[in-house]
Amino acid sequence: MSLISLFGGKSGQPTNTPAQPAEKKPHILVIGNEKGGSGKTTTSMHIMVALMRLGFKLGSMDIDARQRSLSRYLENRRTTMTKEDISLPMSHHVIITKSPFNVQQEAESDEQDRFLQGLDRLKMCDFILVDSPGNDTYLSRLAHSYADTIITPINDSFVDLDVLATIDGNTMQIVRPSIYSEMVWEQKLARAKRDGGSIEWIVMRNRLSNLDARNKRQMKKLTEDLSRRIGFKVAAGFSERVIYREMFLQGLTVLDVIDMSESKSISLSHVAAKQEVRELLKTLRIPEVDRRINEIRSKDTPAAAPAQEPVAADAPIQAAHP
Ligand SMILES: Nc1ncnc2c1ncn2[C@@H]1O[C@H](COP(=O)(O)OP(=O)(O)O)[C@@H](O)[C@H]1O
Ligand SMILES: [Mg+2]
Repeated sequence: MSLISLFGGKSGQPTNTPAQPAEKKPHILVIGNEKGGSGKTTTSMHIMVALMRLGFKLGSMDIDARQRSLSRYLENRRTTMTKEDISLPMSHHVIITKSPFNVQQEAESDEQDRFLQGLDRLKMCDFILVDSPGNDTYLSRLAHSYADTIITPINDSFVDLDVLATIDGNTMQIVRPSIYSEMVWEQKLARAKRDGGSIEWIVMRNRLSNLDARNKRQMKKLTEDLSRRIGFKVAAGFSERVIYREMFLQGLTVLDVIDMSESKSISLSHVAAKQEVRELLKTLRIPEVDRRINEIRSKDTPAAAPAQEPVAADAPIQAAHP
């Protein structure tokens, strides 16, 4: 069964371009969800910093021309470095702006050129992470078609599940896949046609909370049903934590805060969040990433907090970090 057969095609697809040379290419991660506020930029920053702290060279691309949240996150990070006179891992960053052309075909061709030039500028990196907008744009579709891995954060609510499929509220059955799911399917086909490559799609639940256990169970079941029907892998995801949202202005992530705290006490929530980010990286199933995580883990103290359950209070604990 194909999603295409359920929905039919769509105009404005990225045109095919010749395959890239056979040199070692960066792994392209696209963080996508056509809904704003689902945690794309937060997830992007945490994945980037986690990979950089594992020693990988990172390229980042902001194709969210309206919000530019990832670019501002990185600007804030640079300001913090200058102000505090500290050094933090930084990505090589590229912003892809919208084409000024009015004619759709010209604009798309121009944006394709911009995007490919951006990829070329970052080709020396191990990973390129693309943070995408919360709406359907040509650039976003194009970026999805170049992904090796798509990561879709969804807020842990039925409203947000709608981005993957229409659910019958009475029977809690899946009625049909969503336009976004169809779009991902189309980009998988576009990628396969262009270079024979495949795209892994990972959906991660975000802002998991302890509240309302029945709804939470239903969400879990529906997500798992959808994963089989639509063809994605489910990642454990991030809990609802103040620490994920309080560091944008400093351009920092949980991982930076833990690293910078040195001998100062850090909260249990920080340790649990760090574990959540690591679990997400492990879902990528990239052997070199796993190897580096294991190396670092062997240096960790054994007092790590469990990954899944959110920690309500930011109660300080003794330094249980590298
Ligand atoms: N796991 C989380 N816990 C708490 N707040 C979060 C979490 N993930 C995201 N947020 C907050 O939700 C808001 C939207 O997140 P953002 O990453 O900007 O989403 P998007 O890029 O999809 O629009 C931001 O205020 C962010 O700090
Ligand atoms: Mg964003």
